[in-house]
Amino acid sequence: MDDKVVTAIGTPNKALVMYWGKRNNRLNLPMNSSLSITLDESLNTRTSIVFSKKIKRDAIYVNGEKHDLEARAQNEKMMLSKRVIDRMRSLSGTKAKALIVSRNSFPTSTGLASSSSGAATLVFAASQALGLKASARELSILARQISGSGSRSLMGGFVKWTKGSKPDGSDSYAEQVASEKYWPEVMDIIAVFTASKKKVSSSEGHDLTLKQSKLYFLRPEYAEDRLEAMSDAIRARDFEPLAEMIMRDSNNMHATMLDTYPPIMYLDDRSREAIYAIHELNQSEGKNIAAYTFDAGPNAHVITLRKYKSKVMGMLGELIGDGKILAAGQGSGPRLLGESESLIDYRSLKPTE
Ligand code: DP6
Repeated sequence: MDDKVVTAIGTPNKALVMYWGKRNNRLNLPMNSSLSITLDESLNTRTSIVFSKKIKRDAIYVNGEKHDLEARAQNEKMMLSKRVIDRMRSLSGTKAKALIVSRNSFPTSTGLASSSSGAATLVFAASQALGLKASARELSILARQISGSGSRSLMGGFVKWTKGSKPDGSDSYAEQVASEKYWPEVMDIIAVFTASKKKVSSSEGHDLTLKQSKLYFLRPEYAEDRLEAMSDAIRARDFEPLAEMIMRDSNNMHATMLDTYPPIMYLDDRSREAIYAIHELNQSEGKNIAAYTFDAGPNAHVITLRKYKSKVMGMLGELIGDGKILAAGQGSGPRLLGESESLIDYRSLKPTE
């Protein structure tokens, strides 16, 4: 298993019932369960990893930037990644150090859920490189400890992350509600208004909202109820009520952010224009054909059905100016890639570029 270079591709997910607020910051244990769709490879993270005795220190390259995982001062995500790699290494019994090289096909830290695909692809690739026989559920527990939303990117289609109640997080994992083949018409069209990094990271945002918002106490129960109703709408392939619940969940979560003191505002004027435009579109159609939902950033995710794709793209096209529109269907979770796709040269054990 040592010296075997493994390359995997994984994708982000878009939450329909969102995770916001942690009951345990160290383990990323959420205040409420959440539900998402795993996106296809139109947006992806490619990660190569090797464990080798020839490597002196654990290191990770993200989009070309090197992070020494053994340096004292670390950013939080790197520290968490190191902890999870250590855990997986001890499960496998090796002491070899790791080189990890990872690339996103889309902008990071902009509310396009880069941390979810990064975390899921990393644990998937590491488990393959180490020969761990871990289930998708076990991998979701590991990915969660890097980034909560990452727990939901280990499986395809519609995925539920159950919040759990145990202090060690062993019952806080993701599972599939319906595979990507169950209702493949559902897709995500993303208006990328900005590719610049957000002012308040989601990790900080979770914490500040929980501590400072007076409205937040209403959110966990609301989200939990919505999740049950949304799962029913998915099973019945009933888009109209699903769309309304998606929009309400986004509004509800952003209301608790705005109620944080000082307020956290991820939405901007273009986000608000998109919200109005989608309500107008639905009104003119006489039914909900599209639903907006926003992560911790201004970019609009519009959940719709394939048959409405060109209508929604046309509407977003008028708002977008010099921004970009991405369209993604549902994906099936991480998978292995061949040697020719590797980001690590297997002879020198160095990044290929
Ligand atoms: C608004 O998973 O990025 O996108 O656990 O601190 O890494 P950490 O937070 P993160 O939070 C995602 C928040 C969200 C909603 C969601 O994806 O459920």
